[in-house]
Amino acid sequence: MSDLTLHLGQTLWFDGNPMIEGPEAARFDARGGIVVQDGHVVARGTADDLRRAYPQAVVEDHGQALILPGFIDAHVHYPQTAMIASWGKRLIDWLNTYTFPEEMRFGDPGYAAEIAGRYLDLALAHGTTTMCSYCTIHPESVDAYFTAAAARGMRVLGGKTCMDRNAPDGLRDTAQTAYDDSKALLNRWHGQGRASYVITPRFSPTSTPDQLSALGALWAEHPDCLMQTHLSEQTDEIDWVRGLYPEARDYLDTYEANGLLGANGLYGHAIHLEPRERDRLLEVGAALVHCPTSNTFIGSGLFDMAGLVAEGQRVGLATDTGGGSSFSMLRTMAAAYEVAQLRGVALHPSALLWLATEGSARSLRIADRVGTLAPGTEADFITIDLGSTPAIAQRSARAADIWEAVFPTIMMGDDRAVTGVWVMGEKRG
Ligand code: GUN
Ligand code: ZN
Repeated sequence: MSDLTLHLGQTLWFDGNPMIEGPEAARFDARGGIVVQDGHVVARGTADDLRRAYPQAVVEDHGQALILPGFIDAHVHYPQTAMIASWGKRLIDWLNTYTFPEEMRFGDPGYAAEIAGRYLDLALAHGTTTMCSYCTIHPESVDAYFTAAAARGMRVLGGKTCMDRNAPDGLRDTAQTAYDDSKALLNRWHGQGRASYVITPRFSPTSTPDQLSALGALWAEHPDCLMQTHLSEQTDEIDWVRGLYPEARDYLDTYEANGLLGANGLYGHAIHLEPRERDRLLEVGAALVHCPTSNTFIGSGLFDMAGLVAEGQRVGLATDTGGGSSFSMLRTMAAAYEVAQLRGVALHPSALLWLATEGSARSLRIADRVGTLAPGTEADFITIDLGSTPAIAQRSARAADIWEAVFPTIMMGDDRAVTGVWVMGEKRG
């Protein structure tokens, strides 16, 4: 038996879904804790109960800090780390001007390793312990990502971004090489330690129907894998898809017709959906990923969080770095709040915290392992200082309850609020 560690602080968790049930689904202990052993959570409760039940545990007292599951970012492009916050373009111009030239560099394994390490260290510093990333078309970029994550002990998901048209020379594969390379990478990485491979056609405009159907065939061979792509992010993009796929009923149909619609599918952005698309996404139980800082930064539109959740859609939350303008899931929660306000809905802090942890974990189908701090799950967790700047501290000092105490950090917090990061029980920041 290895050592038990008892981490004490304020604790918050969910025994229901606050997106549906409201804050009553949350459980809060002003003096609570978790017990960690062999990288896993073995118990959760009040500080007094845990001290009594585990008298032999080494105690790490985090005082008033809030202990949360590490944040889970359900859609990110790690290769866009160095070009985040690039000015002045909308989606298609932004891809051509900034994104594709940067992604071209990832054929160099040294550069891929440098950016993968830089990205993962930035993510950890912001309290994000798991993410689902697009890589580039280069297999080297996938190896760099999973290798860097393994060196940090992190549970990560990702895959080779496939594109065989409408991308520059040097950044295109083919239907066959996309299938072959993805399959080889899947066999190398899926289930290796804490890695999960995700089949990754970038989006319909940069794939031929042949490439989409080759990746659909690969997914049919590996239905336990997730598949990620982009859907209905900007109206110009949707018009372009209509021209490229004249037979398709709508954007989603370009995926559906090629075997790329399913319960393990992740559809990023999903802003301008047709009724048929919503019906089909719901019917198959796919996940939609909300990327609010990206949707405002690139000018894409306002995701219908309340309407989609009310009809029963599964939704995750993501930075979409570097179309998104931040590495921080706190900043991302703030943007989700603001976007919902623009649609007339105020998301409760419990819903925002759930989205950034358990909600994203559910969208990635890993909530049995991370994102909840339930006993038996992996001990990826963070401590949050609810008064990390003078501006936040003076507001939270007036708080009447935990929600008023945490909301200023959601709205105004950043990496300064993240005072500790543990991955499988090991301190990583
Ligand atoms: N659509 C296709 N590729 C991308 C990308 O890299 N970022 C965003 N935001 N949208 C995309
Ligand atoms: Zn994206």
